[in-house]
Amino acid sequence: MALKEQPTESITMSYNLLKGKRGIIFGALDENSIAWKTAERIHEEGGTFVLTNAPVAMRLGQIKDLAEKTGSEVIPADATSEEDLANLVAKSVEILGGKIDFVLHAIGMSVNVRKGRSYTDEKYDFTNKGWDVSALSFHKVMQSLYKADAMAEWGSIVALTYMAAQRVFPDYNDMADNKAYLESVARSFGYFFGKEKNVRVNTISQSPTPTTAGQGVKGFGGFISYAEKMSPLGNATALECADYTVTLFSDLTRKVTMQNLFHDGGFSNTGVSQEVIEHFTEE
Ligand SMILES: NC(=O)c1ccc[n+]([C@@H]2O[C@H](COP(=O)([O-])OP(=O)(O)OC[C@H]3O[C@@H](n4cnc5c(N)ncnc54)[C@H](O)[C@@H]3O)[C@@H](O)[C@H]2O)c1
Repeated sequence: MALKEQPTESITMSYNLLKGKRGIIFGALDENSIAWKTAERIHEEGGTFVLTNAPVAMRLGQIKDLAEKTGSEVIPADATSEEDLANLVAKSVEILGGKIDFVLHAIGMSVNVRKGRSYTDEKYDFTNKGWDVSALSFHKVMQSLYKADAMAEWGSIVALTYMAAQRVFPDYNDMADNKAYLESVARSFGYFFGKEKNVRVNTISQSPTPTTAGQGVKGFGGFISYAEKMSPLGNATALECADYTVTLFSDLTRKVTMQNLFHDGGFSNTGVSQEVIEHFTEE
């Protein structure tokens, strides 16, 4: 069966949904990154932002092109370092000229996956590092913003996650546990940020997407085709994820908080699809 044709350009127009809003975007590595597409869409919607990534990712150089294109500054920060994050938050407020309205956490990395260690053969130093980068970093980012009182009233914070937090996908490995932790942090911090500052915190559970992080998962090709066949609307692309994130950063979703929001073409609620049945039906 041919894969459903996916739009390559944003089908939406610009509505100035983020006019006057200031933000911080973590995780734009190259033009396939979900954070890269999101930065481009936010720019189109009138938002301004600081781009950040780990110093090691900066050396790859591509983020500078995005910064130029969107008129943004780049501040390196390792999302596991409290010192780097405090510096990032202070400088961002200064550069952008006020408190922060939106933050995108699009960070993920498993050392066990990278080194080919299976879930039943984890090296726990690797597990700790992957958890720190992929999950605890979300708490560290929010705590840095909270302590500096850097979030504007009715601001919005989003992190990206995957459905392996709820259901088993064997090769997703320890990232499944990291995503479960990440989603829990969104709920817990969402409570305090909501009570104290009217700031909302959500996670978007995105379809498999061909990015550097995504393609690191073993058998990714099969994984993405299966999800495509199972999802009534087809897989959600990185650009569509960017569009959805724009709505969550806009003033149109001010009472949505502490949620894990599935952005997956219906995959998460589909038991089986006709295409998958046909694939397994013997003639
Ligand atoms: N690609 C998928 O299939 C998929 C599906 C659902 C959710 N997600 C999530 O989307 C998010 C973005 O990933 P992506 O798919 O765009 O891949 P990507 O590889 O383009 O982005 C991952 C980013 O994490 C950054 N990073 C790694 N260690 C860091 C650190 N110590 N400090 C700061 N940044 C660090 C990398 O430099 C990179 O920019 C991740 O949380 C990922 O788990 C991806």
